[in-house]
Amino acid sequence: MASLNVALIGAGAIGKIHLKGFKRIKDINLVAIASRTEEHAKKFAKKFEIPHIYVEDGWKDMLNDEYLDAVSICTPNYLHFPMIMKALEKNIHILCEKPVCISQRELDSVKVKLSKKKLVFFTAFHKRYLSIVSFLKKILEENSLGKISLARYLFAHLGPYITHNALSKERWFFDSEKAGGGVLLDLGVHAIDLFRYLIGEFKNIEGFNYNTTCIDMNDEDNCNVLFRFDNNSLGIISVSWCTPPREIIEIYGTKGSIKIDLVSNTSTYQIEGLDHNLVMKELITHKTSNIPPHHLLIDHFIRCIRQKKEGGPSFQDGQKAVEFVLDAYQFNK
Ligand SMILES: NC(=O)c1ccc[n+]([C@@H]2O[C@H](COP(=O)([O-])OP(=O)(O)OC[C@H]3O[C@@H](n4cnc5c(N)ncnc54)[C@H](OP(=O)(O)O)[C@@H]3O)[C@@H](O)[C@H]2O)c1
Repeated sequence: MASLNVALIGAGAIGKIHLKGFKRIKDINLVAIASRTEEHAKKFAKKFEIPHIYVEDGWKDMLNDEYLDAVSICTPNYLHFPMIMKALEKNIHILCEKPVCISQRELDSVKVKLSKKKLVFFTAFHKRYLSIVSFLKKILEENSLGKISLARYLFAHLGPYITHNALSKERWFFDSEKAGGGVLLDLGVHAIDLFRYLIGEFKNIEGFNYNTTCIDMNDEDNCNVLFRFDNNSLGIISVSWCTPPREIIEIYGTKGSIKIDLVSNTSTYQIEGLDHNLVMKELITHKTSNIPPHHLLIDHFIRCIRQKKEGGPSFQDGQKAVEFVLDAYQFNK
């Protein structure tokens, strides 16, 4: 099998997870790393045996000068767009962290440019690769809950610098220009992506409220979005950076309901015909995989490049999630 040359931009908290993911795949050469601070780039280069380092805005030189099959973009949100556009220009396959972009103009430009290329683009919605989510998907595909009437997603933690432990010293998550939004753009994109994956496309936003409660920032650190799916079922997404970690998905249907707790990785249910539902039995007894979901996503990304096929979560999935957030931000205006 021919080796693939991969580079990473952003030696931060998520960048480290991506590097670990690539490192465990056979025939991947981690050839270069770009990060703003030399010390951070060097530290990761040493740990992951990466020969070439680019610092400050050297990522442009890296994409121009290195022979790369794929690049992983793990930088602050406002940098995703220029980095994606440059990688597309150089015909490099892209794995980009969420949110893929921070404005509609950026999304539209990427969409046009990507449509002219035969490149694999993955958005790093790793939650799709959680084993508990695969079971939930099977249950929904088997129509075990009946017609879905209501879905709720609560996703909360103590923010990027306490629970998540972001590494960059510039605290960009709380800067509107660099982050593009608050907790909805950070956590809400995961919630709407999983709902689109499990239940279907969303139609429109029907309510939005928010507060800035616990963090010294301009954007929301708490918010709720009410929306409707194409199939007319109702959705609620609540996100917060002001409370210890909680992540709960509840889906209600005409035949039963299910509640998944992604923090404790447990499920509870109220459903007819449980004894006959093999997937439900598997769900209840399942053990978490030892392989982190980000790594499973990276495995799939590399498989798609090798097999020259499309996969996902794609750019379009990343785009839809950002559009959901942008629509919510417009709701009160
Ligand atoms: N999928 C998920 O669940 C998940 C979770 C958390 C975050 N994320 C996303 O991942 C991305 C990174 O977040 P993070 O938590 O890893 O943040 P982070 O720890 O602050 O890391 C950001 C990195 O970007 C680097 N950077 C900043 N400006 C740069 C530039 N001009 N050129 C090259 N590198 C630059 C920083 O460099 P220096 O440190 O060298 O200065 C830092 O290493 C964000 O888009 C975030 O939303 C995804």
